[in-house]
Amino acid sequence: MRFAGKRAVVTGGASGIGRATALRLVDEGAEVWIGDIDEAGGRDVAETSNGRIHFLRTDVTRTGDIEALMAAADAAGGLDVVFNNAGAGGSRARIDEISAEDWDRTQALLLRSVAMGIRHAAPLMTARGGGAIVNTASIAALQTGAAPTAYSVAKAGVLHLTTLAAAELSRHNIRVNAVCPGFITTNIFTSGLGIDGEKRDQANGMIAGIAAHAQPIQRAGRPEDIAAAVAYLASDDASFVTGTHITVDGGITIGPRHSWDAAAPSMFSALESFAS
Ligand SMILES: NC(=O)c1ccc[n+]([C@@H]2O[C@H](COP(=O)([O-])OP(=O)(O)OC[C@H]3O[C@@H](n4cnc5c(N)ncnc54)[C@H](O)[C@@H]3O)[C@@H](O)[C@H]2O)c1
Repeated sequence: MRFAGKRAVVTGGASGIGRATALRLVDEGAEVWIGDIDEAGGRDVAETSNGRIHFLRTDVTRTGDIEALMAAADAAGGLDVVFNNAGAGGSRARIDEISAEDWDRTQALLLRSVAMGIRHAAPLMTARGGGAIVNTASIAALQTGAAPTAYSVAKAGVLHLTTLAAAELSRHNIRVNAVCPGFITTNIFTSGLGIDGEKRDQANGMIAGIAAHAQPIQRAGRPEDIAAAVAYLASDDASFVTGTHITVDGGITIGPRHSWDAAAPSMFSALESFAS
């Protein structure tokens, strides 16, 4: 019960990683306000929580919505924890074809939203003596090949924003950290392509099959894997941890596939046939 008596905000809490994290925080004693544009999903999560989760329709590209979400949790007794997590795939365009508008839309959704989340949480946390903020970055912040360019740059921005905010806010006893999920089976892959209903279930099944073999740990990544790391970073167990990130990716960023998969071709295995 690391969050007994605490209030938390989770953006993107209607689905996937945000939903799992909201439920985890409630399991550990918190009262949670989730903000999302998915009203049906948000209400569904709230209804399963015995009144411990409250849903507020929140578009994180609208700063006024973010401010209202933080204020709602604060008004109930003070804001302790914020998980800036809402997101989607953003523009899939390559760097040699993306429009300025698509670039800006992606940054607003994935990077400005986190900056404004911190901006509007920090004064409330400062007023009550401190708090903990966790931001969702991605392994796409660390390497190529994990996501489109605009998304990856936004997530890299989230990581640096995390360190800068941690530095600025430590004097107010506010810790700021990030989590870098690897390949986690959620609706993010299908929603960006407009796939829903039965087709979404089929596509998600296929994704889970691929995800199980994408990294050294041979199972699909689950939203609950990320929720566990977020709960740690947001809790007093991490009271000496700030300005950093935890990568939760089943080892996918360890290195090239042949370094962990004996069946994957490599120059070294190819050379074996020449050795006497
Ligand atoms: N699933 C992965 O493999 C993975 C990997 C790395 C990072 N992430 C990040 O994790 C976060 C959560 O994604 P997920 O995988 O749980 O996907 P998801 O689609 O299951 O959940 C994302 C949630 O964000 C909400 N959302 C989208 N745009 C919004 C907006 N403008 N305002 C408010 N809410 C909005 C969606 O409605 C949805 O409920 C995202 O930031 C994503 O970039 C996911």
